[in-house]
Amino acid sequence: MGKILVTGGAGFIGSHTCVELLERGKEIVVVDNFVNSTPKALEAVREITGREFEFYECDLRDRAGVERIFCENEISAAIHFAGLKAVGESVQKPRLYYDNNLGSTLGLLEAMERHGVKKLIFSSSATVYGEKNAAPYREEMETGGTTNPYGTTKWMIERMLADECAADPAWGVVLLRYFNPIGAHPSGLLREDPNGIPNNLMPYIVRVAQGKLPYLNVFGGDYPTPDGTGVRDYIHVCDLAAGHGKALDWLETHRGVEAFNLGTGKGSSVLEVLHAYERASGREVPYRVAPRRAGDLAVSYADCSKAQKLLGWRAQFSLDDMCRDTFHAG
Ligand code: NAD
Ligand code: WQD
Repeated sequence: MGKILVTGGAGFIGSHTCVELLERGKEIVVVDNFVNSTPKALEAVREITGREFEFYECDLRDRAGVERIFCENEISAAIHFAGLKAVGESVQKPRLYYDNNLGSTLGLLEAMERHGVKKLIFSSSATVYGEKNAAPYREEMETGGTTNPYGTTKWMIERMLADECAADPAWGVVLLRYFNPIGAHPSGLLREDPNGIPNNLMPYIVRVAQGKLPYLNVFGGDYPTPDGTGVRDYIHVCDLAAGHGKALDWLETHRGVEAFNLGTGKGSSVLEVLHAYERASGREVPYRVAPRRAGDLAVSYADCSKAQKLLGWRAQFSLDDMCRDTFHAG
């Protein structure tokens, strides 16, 4: 059994997955260019697991750099987290997103092909369901109709990987469509810590609770939902990490391309998340209802029955657990 290559392994979801893989006894090799992370996360992975692993600071678009990783390590499969993910920035700088997200995937696929590595897990997103489908989202729904370049890169990469599998039946690809990952490792040593003012709900709530921002803008109070605020399927990042372990097991015995939703199957509103964080932290989180944010859906949550049936995976952690671990990680 060779090593698992984890691209983007210093990032939020990648670092938690590194912990999961090392704790399952896997050998890993990590590559990241730190465009949205720091070496601290890798130190935390070593501290939590007490295990060592190879790390390469390299941009996946650097063909020679990626080739070196494959020459120096016996790799049996890759988990591909590396990519840019800020929806708003992708609207401002579309070419950056197409270049980075598609370019890094092409660079990785070429090296894998050259070295006969044909098992891949790709970090996709609920965003591929677009605006036309209604929740709960099921994997067989037609994807596309994405509303921003970031989402379109995910949709395009899913297509690229499906085409690769159609051309060469030796490939096995799992597309994992994450819903809204939050939470942190229970040790408190790993967390999501975006630079600047956060775009996503949970990191924003944390900054308000810490007194670093004055209040949360709740984007829309007039959605057709029980309390009028947007509903999402928040999932603990450690549950997601476990899903990658199960997807690797699946690839031991399956070829072709298969998509799985990773969510809890349960929607929570913005105000439910805010109040859950208040309970977990014992702090008040002031908020104001603001206009809707462009491109936002009213409701998004997963049908997770496929992952449960075929991978034997289901989310274990509740919203209260997610808030407790986020608060504990600071
Ligand atoms: P993240 O930004 O914390 O992690 C991504 C990592 O990839 C970072 O460490 C970054 O430095 C690295 N990276 C980016 N481009 C690179 C390149 N060209 N070469 C090498 N390294 C590169 O993001 P995350 O939240 O951990 O997300 C991981 C993956 O999951 C991404 O592909 C993201 O699009 C996808 N995803 C995330 C969410 C979410 O809400 N967090 C939801 C759905 C899908
Ligand atoms: C959640 C809810 C907001 C901030 C995004 C991407 C998606 C995926 C996950 C990568 C919504 C509301 C938010 C704030 C608020 N990422 N909100 N005030 O938009 O569901 O999904 O991240 O693939 O592709 O689009 O997540 O955390 O930004 O918002 O009221 O300051 O919180 O309107 O209802 P979203 P989010």
